[in-house]
Amino acid sequence: MTTELQTYYQTMIPALEAEMRTVLQASGEQPDLFYGMMHYHMGWVDSAFNPADINGGKRIRPILCLLACAAAGGQWEQAVPAAAAIELLHNFSLIHDDIEDASPTRRGRPTLWQLWGIEQAINSGDAMFAIAHLAMNRLIERGVPAERVVTALRRFDETCVALTVGQHHDMDFENRAEVMVAEYLAMIEGKTAVLLSLCAELGALIAGQDETTIAHYATFGRDLGLAFQVQDDILGIWGDETRTGKSAATDIITKKKTLPVLYGLSQSDDLRQLYAASEGDEAFVTAVIDHLDHNGAYEFAKEKASQYSQSALYHLTTAQPTGPAKTALHQLTDMLLKRDF
Ligand code: IPE
Ligand code: IPE
Ligand code: MG
Ligand code: MG
Repeated sequence: MTTELQTYYQTMIPALEAEMRTVLQASGEQPDLFYGMMHYHMGWVDSAFNPADINGGKRIRPILCLLACAAAGGQWEQAVPAAAAIELLHNFSLIHDDIEDASPTRRGRPTLWQLWGIEQAINSGDAMFAIAHLAMNRLIERGVPAERVVTALRRFDETCVALTVGQHHDMDFENRAEVMVAEYLAMIEGKTAVLLSLCAELGALIAGQDETTIAHYATFGRDLGLAFQVQDDILGIWGDETRTGKSAATDIITKKKTLPVLYGLSQSDDLRQLYAASEGDEAFVTAVIDHLDHNGAYEFAKEKASQYSQSALYHLTTAQPTGPAKTALHQLTDMLLKRDF
C-alpha cells in the first residue's frame, strides 16, 4: 500500500533536488573539483565526478518543512527554497562533522576529508554554508512576502549559531568524565533538534500561520529532533553498518557521551573506570558494548526516544494540521522512530 508519506516523497523530492542542483550549479556536465566535491557529498556523482545516483541521505528535513507547509494550509511549492536551504545547511554540517568526529564513512561512502583531505573538506563545507544562505533568498522568487522572508532568514541564522553551540558541547563532552543528562539534552537540542524544529517552523511561517501555531510546529519539530538524535545514538552503537552507512565503532572510540553511554556510566562503576583508564581501541569498543548490553542501556534509550516521539505528536495535534499532509507527518514521525538507517 502506498502511504501518504510515500506519495508526497515522490512529488516533493524531485522539486527539491532540482532546486538544490540549481544553486549548486549541477548542470549535468562534469563538475570541476570545487563543485565536484559538493556534488559527490550530495550523492549526484561518484568520486571520479561521473553522474551517479548514490545514497545522498534521507532528505527528511526538507520533507518535514514541505509537509509542515502543506499541513498548515500553504502551497508547499513556495517553501521549496527554504527546504533546499535547510538540506544544504545540514549537508554543510555533516562535511564538517565528519572531520570533527574523525568519521571515515558516511552514506556508505568515504567522507570528503578522507578523499580530498581535511583542508579541502573544510573549504567545501564553508562553500555549502554560504550557498545555503543564497538558497534561502530564492523564497522571494516564489512570491513569499518579503516580511516572511526576512523572518525566515533571521531564524535560519539563529539556528546556525545554536547548531554550532551544540557541536561545541558535543566535542567538549568527549574530554569530560562526567556529563549530566540535562547537559546532554541541551547539547542534542543544539546539534540536531533546532534544525528539525526550524523545518516545521518555516513551513508554517511560509504558509502564513499565526505566531502561536508556528510555535506549536516548532515544538513538534524540536521533540521530533530529540527522538531522532536518541535513535541516531542507538544506531551509532547497535546499528548495522550496511544499513546506516556509518562506522558503528566511531562514537565509542571517540568517547562520545551519547545517551546509552551516559546511562551505562550512571549504572556501572566498572564502565566508569574503563572510560577513565582505556584508550579508544577495538578491545575498548567490545568491552563498552558488553557493559551497555548488560545494564539495559539500549532499552533505556529506546524508551526515551519513544517518549520524545509521543511528545512530538502531542504538539503536532496542538498545531491543528489538516489534510493528507497531516497524516504524512504522523507517518514520518513513526518512521523516524522505527528506522534502522
Ligand atoms: C545525521 O542526520 C546527523 C544527525 C543529526 C543525526 P541524517 O540521519 O538525517 O543524515 P542523512 O542526511 O540522512 O545522511
Ligand atoms: C551530527 O551529529 C550533528 C550535526 C552535524 C550538526 P552526529 O555526529 O551525532 O551525527 P552522525 O552520527 O555523525 O551522523
Ligand atoms: Mg558529531
Ligand atoms: Mg558525527
